[in-house]
Order: sequence, then C-alpha cells, then structure tokens
Amino acid sequence: MTEPFLPFTRPDIDEATIAAVGEVLRSGWITTGPKSQAFEARLSEFFGGRPVRCFSNGTATLEVALRVAGIGPGDEVITTPLTWVATANVIVAVGATPVFVDVDPVTRNLDLDAVEAAITPRTRAVIPVHLTGLPVDMDRLYAIAKRHALRIVEDAAQAIDSRWIGAGDTGEGRRIGAFGDLVSFSFQANKNLTCAEGGCLVLNTPEEARHAERLRLQGIVRSGFDGLEMSEPGGKSNLSDVHAVIGLSQMDRLPAITARRAVLAQRYLDRLKASGIEALGVELPPALATTGAITNWHMFQVVLPADRIDGGRAAVMSLLKDAGIGAGVHYPAVHLLDFYRRRGWREGQLPVAERIGRGTLTLPLFPAMSDEDVDRVCQQLERACRLLLT
Ligand SMILES: Cc1ncc(COP(=O)(O)O)c(C=O)c1O
Repeated sequence: MTEPFLPFTRPDIDEATIAAVGEVLRSGWITTGPKSQAFEARLSEFFGGRPVRCFSNGTATLEVALRVAGIGPGDEVITTPLTWVATANVIVAVGATPVFVDVDPVTRNLDLDAVEAAITPRTRAVIPVHLTGLPVDMDRLYAIAKRHALRIVEDAAQAIDSRWIGAGDTGEGRRIGAFGDLVSFSFQANKNLTCAEGGCLVLNTPEEARHAERLRLQGIVRSGFDGLEMSEPGGKSNLSDVHAVIGLSQMDRLPAITARRAVLAQRYLDRLKASGIEALGVELPPALATTGAITNWHMFQVVLPADRIDGGRAAVMSLLKDAGIGAGVHYPAVHLLDFYRRRGWREGQLPVAERIGRGTLTLPLFPAMSDEDVDRVCQQLERACRLLLT
C-alpha cells in the first residue's frame, strides 16, 4: 500500500475555527472590528501586557515597525541573509540600506560578532531573525543595541511561543515578544499560529501603538463627524475580523501545538542521530542551545553537504518526493538573489550563510503528523543520502 503524500507542513484548523469564521461571515461585520480588537487584547496578554497591533501580513508588520522606529533614507539596517526575502525587502521599501552579515554555523542565526563589526555611523537598526523559531542570543543582542544606541526590530515571524532564558531569568524564561524593542510576528498559513494571512507587532508605548494604527490605515488621524485629517501617507494593512477569528481560535490551541511540535522534533533528533547521517556530513539543528534559546520548532531543518551530493540538494528532494515526502528550502541566501547582486552583493562575501543556503532542507513537521511519519522521513532521508553522497 502506498502511503499518502506527506507535505512539509499543513495548517492545523479544527471544526470550531471553521464555525467561528462562519459566524463572522454571517454577522454583517467582516472587516476590522470586534474580533481583531479581541485578538489584539489576547495577544497583548500573551506578551505580558505590552501594546500589540495586528496587520494583514507579516511583511506589512515589519515595514510598519521600521517606520515606527523612524528608519528611512540614509540609514543602514543590519540583517541576516538566511531569511525570507521580506526581511530585506522592507528595509529597501522604507528607503534604507540592508547590510547583510554572516550567520553562526550552529544556530544559523545572525553572527553577533559580525553584527558588531558591521556597525557604522549610519547604522540605525538591526533586524535579527529567529530562524525556524530559534531565538538569537537576546542578552548579547540587546547589549549591543544599548552600547551603540540602535533600534532592534525583531523579525519573529516564525517565533510565536519561543522563549529565551537569559541571565537573571528563572524557570522557563520569557516569551519572545514579551520583552525587547519592536517585535514582529507573521500569521501566514505555514506559521505555528495562523490566521491564513496576518501579523502582529509588539510595541513599547501607547504612542508607538497609535503611530502603528495610523500607518496601517492611510495615516488617518481623524475621520467621521469631525471631518477627515491625515498626518502621513500610511498604507492599508489592517487585519479583517474573518482572519482575526482564526487567530483567536488558534490561541486556545497554541500550547498543544507547541508541545506536539517539540515531541516530533525530539523524535527527529533521536532517529537522525542514531542513523549515522551526521558522519556523512549532514548537519542537524542544535538540540538544546547552550545559550538559553528555546525554539517553538517552527521548522526542522538539516543542512546537506550539497557540494558533495550528486545532483545537489535537488536530487535528495526528488528522491524524497518519489517516496511521497515533501521537503522545502528555507532559504537560499538572500544577498545572492538578482536584485541584491545588482546592488553589489557577491558570492564569497558571507560564506557560512551561502553554504547553509545551498544545503538547507526543511523536513515535514506539523502537529497532525504521526510518530511513524517522522520515522518514515528519517528512513528515506538516510537512504537518499547514502545513495547520493560520495
Ligand atoms: C522570517 C520571515 N520574515 C517575514 C515573513 C513575512 O511574513 P508574511 O508572509 O506574513 O508577509 C515571513 C513569513 O513568510 C518569514 O518567515
């Protein structure tokens, strides 16, 4: 019997969520309204009472964060090339210059020594990305920010329910978003918590939150009986109640979602370690980061020694596909994409990120997967590596 195709991810939507969407659609109010307000309130509680505003997607959220931080033309923003293109594109969108620096080979997140070395008098902000949900070293990051008076816009698109146990923290530490500067999340379809599309920004003050509200609705400061007034050309990136109600419903199940992902990821680690593929040069994700970073296991990624594989990573993906397994690539190094090459970025400038970008492979991981699904992926990955690796 052939097994059903296993995608690399699948949203976890229950019947209660479907019913809640139907209720909103029947209510007569389907755009931003009581449900998005309730979602913002719920998220604010989740993030320890900090102000939260929701947006129609994570890219808009990140762009608003940069504008709230006052980043614009002439400014440099340091970020990682191992991310979804949105992270770098929003820097360009506000008229600033992305400065890519290399990543740490173990965590695959920004190398903070490289961040510090890249700071110039024009540097105004850093956008760290908690790739796959694994937090960067928050103690060091915010120490650097303080030392150099920089704004931090955390791209926590993938990091809902990740945690950081830093110096002075006890127990399970603090949630990503519950502390720090501006923290941006995405609720796009693949994320651990999804609205189908959406995002939220955690801010520092009510003034910043009001600014973010204006930026998501045309820059309008006043409307209605008092007449229309706007202060700046804001965009249009409000979250509809149809989407918000999906997010609200997912909040109830987030603890179970995070817990199930951790169980599946641990099984991957145990099985892949036992398979011996590390001896072939396949790198596993860090099991327990020594720094106190607790991942939400948004993705489980291995790094293949792509340059030693007959046919490269694509050949491994093709064998997995033949075995009914979907794998993903998150992400090729962004600085080597055509647009950034035209701005002068070249191969060889960021060797660690480039190597990982060529070899990274995302294995299936989502809460509805069975333990046996993990075992099947491990067997097939090992088989593919033994066949193709020279
Ligand atoms: C690291 C990262 N940054 C930004 C985004 C942008 O979020 P969205 O797709 O919701 O616009 C995503 C998600 O796709 C992401 O993974």
